[in-house]
Amino acid sequence: MKRQAKGQIHERITAIPNAWYPAYMVRGDAKNLMIDAGVNLLGPRYLTSIKDILGDPERLHYLFLTHSHYDHVGAAHYLKRHIPGLAIGAHERLALLLQKTSVLDMINRLSGNHVELLKYNTAGEDLTLHPFEINICLKQGDAFDLGGLTCRVYETPGHTRDSLSFYFPEIKTLFAGEACGVLQGETGSEMQVEFLSSYDDYIESLKLMMALEPETICLGHAWVLTHEDAKEFLQRALAETYRYRELIEKYLNAAGGHIEKAIEDMGHVEYDIKGGIYQERVSYMTNLSAQVKHIAGLKKN
Ligand SMILES: [Fe+2]
Repeated sequence: MKRQAKGQIHERITAIPNAWYPAYMVRGDAKNLMIDAGVNLLGPRYLTSIKDILGDPERLHYLFLTHSHYDHVGAAHYLKRHIPGLAIGAHERLALLLQKTSVLDMINRLSGNHVELLKYNTAGEDLTLHPFEINICLKQGDAFDLGGLTCRVYETPGHTRDSLSFYFPEIKTLFAGEACGVLQGETGSEMQVEFLSSYDDYIESLKLMMALEPETICLGHAWVLTHEDAKEFLQRALAETYRYRELIEKYLNAAGGHIEKAIEDMGHVEYDIKGGIYQERVSYMTNLSAQVKHIAGLKKN
């Protein structure tokens, strides 16, 4: 089954508050964990949802971040400000990246493009992402006992170098951020392949996730897949990644190896003509550019 990443997903999991930028609340018997912190402009909405679900927001013990992109870390500082006891966990590369003024500036600039989300800041709070501390540097093999649920940490690079996935064996549920791609289009029928830092790592990460045999996959954007759809999704993600590389190579060949022309042609056909991609064009083109350059580099070697 495929369903929107919104509301109650499982008796222990709730997706809040916006399906396209979901944060997932995971409730253990003893501790509670939130996965990802979306876009900074949604900070007040995340906090309201946390209060609705947990009563006292101080009952949120952990916030784990899947990767360093602006639409996954945006409200982390805001939440920490409102929940001082919150322990934020992420890959150590993310901890280093977010020390950089240039990275924070970019995150705040990209978030600022989401004027449609400004209306949620009814109290006129400062929602800027300021530097914040990563309290727990997460790495492969770490495990957190929430009481009846264990959060196992997997390093799944390829989308970014700091991509982490979280797997809960008791409920066979995987939170993969964008390490396995996302589904685009109104009905989520289009697979978007998301390798940015490394094609080879992305493939290896997909294989790692397949070996876990999750029965539920909570994607970084928009959709949650269960049972046969979860299994099929990872198989399809792998097949689509191979196919996507071939497609990029086709554009590179057609452009006679001229990388900028290949990026432009591919963006025009895949985004403008075929359509169905919800991502902002500027973000799509930034990612596409990284992917085409990466594949061109692999071809050369
Ligand atoms: Fe991302």
